[in-house]
Amino acid sequence: MASITIRNLDDEVKELLRRLAAENDRSMEEQARVMIRAAVEGQLGSAGRIDQIEQTLRELASARGLATPVVAGKIMPRGLSGKRILLIIGGGIAAYKALDLIRRLRERGAAVRVLMTSAAQEFITTLSAGALSADHVFTELFDRQNEHDVGHIRLSREADLLVVAPATADLMAKLANGHANDLASTVLIATDKPVLIAPAMNPRMWAHPATRRNRATLQKDGVTFVGPAKGEMAESNEAGEGRMAEPLEIVAAIEALLDVGPKPLSGRKIIVTSGPTHEPIDPVRYIANRSSGKQGHAIAAALARLGADVHLVSGPVGIADPAGVKTIHVERAQEMRDAVEQLLPADAAVFVAAVADWRTENSAGEKIKKVAGEGPPVLRMVENPDILAGVGHHSQRPGLVIGFAAETRDLLRNAEAKLKKKGADLIVANDVSQGSGVGSSGVMGGDRNRVRIVSKAGVEEWPEMSKDDVAARLAALIAERLKTIVV
Ligand SMILES: Cc1cc2nc3c(=O)[nH]c(=O)nc-3n(C[C@H](O)[C@H](O)[C@H](O)COP(=O)(O)O)c2cc1C
Repeated sequence: MASITIRNLDDEVKELLRRLAAENDRSMEEQARVMIRAAVEGQLGSAGRIDQIEQTLRELASARGLATPVVAGKIMPRGLSGKRILLIIGGGIAAYKALDLIRRLRERGAAVRVLMTSAAQEFITTLSAGALSADHVFTELFDRQNEHDVGHIRLSREADLLVVAPATADLMAKLANGHANDLASTVLIATDKPVLIAPAMNPRMWAHPATRRNRATLQKDGVTFVGPAKGEMAESNEAGEGRMAEPLEIVAAIEALLDVGPKPLSGRKIIVTSGPTHEPIDPVRYIANRSSGKQGHAIAAALARLGADVHLVSGPVGIADPAGVKTIHVERAQEMRDAVEQLLPADAAVFVAAVADWRTENSAGEKIKKVAGEGPPVLRMVENPDILAGVGHHSQRPGLVIGFAAETRDLLRNAEAKLKKKGADLIVANDVSQGSGVGSSGVMGGDRNRVRIVSKAGVEEWPEMSKDDVAARLAALIAERLKTIVV
């Protein structure tokens, strides 16, 4: 394949391409190839494809809080000024990436103080870390210069966030078990500040039951993780899960933890539904579908990150309630409808839940028994309320109503019909057939999605991306639409 030179893009687009590449764990060349391929295959629509690639990059970056204001053609990194980050560098091969992380954090205005374990000093020097952070680099617990005022407590007190990157298996084990026998572990256990961990290790170390146990313990203790990613390891011929998240992914996680992103949706109340519904047959059996709630929950979280007051009405799912969102748990379609109607009025409503179209007319009060000679029971079904149509035509209809259409055939025709019939402003259409080609486990239950946005203005195709990226981009679109809706 011919090589691509990323030279003639303007600086802003180049920067966004670099960030998107880092997010997807690709080189810039590979990222550009993926996007160009998508454009050539028509996934980005037919007209103005290059414009659309640029637009896609900008939207994704801004949706994920990566966008930086552009002043006179120059990128002015936003966001972390005034924030103090204590970066703990552990002894792994990925330590060299921590140097880039220092640079990325400082260019966003953060003050970075560095602490290195003695193993870390086998990989990179305190000289480099000190030059990049423009500060003394801390290495010793028993440091005559710094311990007169209990330096390990001060290091924690004078930070807004502690970041461990790379976090070795050893550092994770120490923190999970409460060890405090060097400066890094002592600071980590002496802190009351949030802790973000970016593990980096050989895939077998990451998969080891001890590391898995430590990770679960740390998560329970409130530690946040970013990565690790799957991919090539620095060691030759090694690949798998264990590669440290890219510096820009770590920056994005830091921004999310410190909640410093733009808040275009603050003051806006948004209802989101997610997950399946369970329609009882008897006290132990029910009718359901394969919806995991991943997409709806991701959308609720993305809207909350943009400052919205999000009310999530969730059917039964096996995933956690998103942070910063008010979640109401329901089981049946009728309960979901009642919960949604009680939440009106709202500025916008996004109906992602896969609501059962039918329920049994009468669910049995007792478990239906198998009786010899009687044959199987006959279930009579009745229609469930259509929650989207109900809100789309409601006297308290939100200014923006968005529905989802999961179809296995005639996707666009069904989505366009749904748009008209249900009184929605937008339908997000996704092909949930086995042959959709999205992700290894398909759209339902999987982590990836490819959607089309259907509105009166036409159909916009989005390339395949993670459900988190679909959520971020949809949240940005909602913020954009609500700008023009006065309530
Ligand atoms: C060449 C080399 C590479 C290493 N890379 C890693 C690594 O990527 N991740 C890890 O957890 N440990 C790695 N180790 C092992 C750690 O350096 C070792 O566990 C050390 O005690 C960690 O100390 P620390 O947690 O105080 O930084 C590596 C060791 C060597 C010799």
